[in-house]
Amino acid sequence: MERLMRDFFLFLSKNKPMTKVAKQYGLRFGGARFVAGETVEQAVKSIQELNQKGLCVTLDCLGEFVDNEKEASEMAELCIEAVRAIGTYQIDSQLSLKLTSMGLDLSEDVVLENMRRILDVAAEYDVFVTIDMEDYEHCGRTLEVFKKLKHEYDHIGTVIQAYLYRTEADMEALSVHSPNLRLVKGAYKESPEVAFPEKHDVDANFKNIIKMHLLNGNYTAVATHDDAMIQYTKEFVREHGISRDQFEFQMLYGIREERQRELHKEGYKMRVYMPFGTDWYGYFMRRLAERPANVAFVAKGIMNR
Ligand code: FDA
Repeated sequence: MERLMRDFFLFLSKNKPMTKVAKQYGLRFGGARFVAGETVEQAVKSIQELNQKGLCVTLDCLGEFVDNEKEASEMAELCIEAVRAIGTYQIDSQLSLKLTSMGLDLSEDVVLENMRRILDVAAEYDVFVTIDMEDYEHCGRTLEVFKKLKHEYDHIGTVIQAYLYRTEADMEALSVHSPNLRLVKGAYKESPEVAFPEKHDVDANFKNIIKMHLLNGNYTAVATHDDAMIQYTKEFVREHGISRDQFEFQMLYGIREERQRELHKEGYKMRVYMPFGTDWYGYFMRRLAERPANVAFVAKGIMNR
């Protein structure tokens, strides 16, 4: 049943017409639990609140499936506006974005141009930018764009997903760039031809890539809500004398908030991934796919309207 629900919500997450309808109707159906707001101003306020609790943030400009260069350029403008706000209000936040929202499905030139515009402004304000990883179809192209940009800019990182078979080889190929990587289990529906279907294999590979990246001396963001993975990281860094400056934990906005505060109190760097914007639908559906309890929460929200 759980797997069926997961597949259903992941199927919905890729529905373009629904994405458009959701944009027009605004943040609803419990979405506000996982999305900080629709405007940069609302996001700034939420970041300030988290900063006051000692948590840092990566602000995610929600967006996927752009159809033309104009939309991709508008998304880049929104990211630039977010970077300027982070700099102007001097809040502790990085930026996250998806390359499909920058035009990855249109052409590599369009993506590179939009990314350079963002990265130039981010350099002015000293804001680090992470390229999120999307589905398998976009993984190879995302890594190619990342490598090109990494030659030109230091303040850029990307994401590696433990569920893909190609991940270990990707990490080896990337290691020459000494990248700052966010490591995750992976959030999309993928075929068993490209991704481990069983959770225990994903977990084993997650531990494997955490180990690889830390031992290579690279900055590592362990992005998970899973206590077993958090415990593994804590023990691994202790046994290998790895400094707390070389890694951080990351969790999603609205998920396990108490655990986020505990990790901060234990002295670990804790970063919250905070999505904002009108294009919240695909992100929201992936969160519902991850955890049936989230569906119950949303259902309650709808009933109480
Ligand atoms: P998993 O979902 O396997 O859960 C393991 C355990 O964690 C559960 O059994 C439970 O104990 C605990 N848990 C989880 N959720 C909980 C909750 N709400 N309350 C209480 N306990 C809970 N994916 C991707 O493909 N590309 C990307 O760029 C990113 N980016 C990203 C950034 C950040 C900061 C995070 C945290 C995650 C991502 N992801 C992602 C999503 C990621 O791939 C993955 O889908 C989710 O993090 C869920 O996997 P977990 O590692 O949290 O464990």
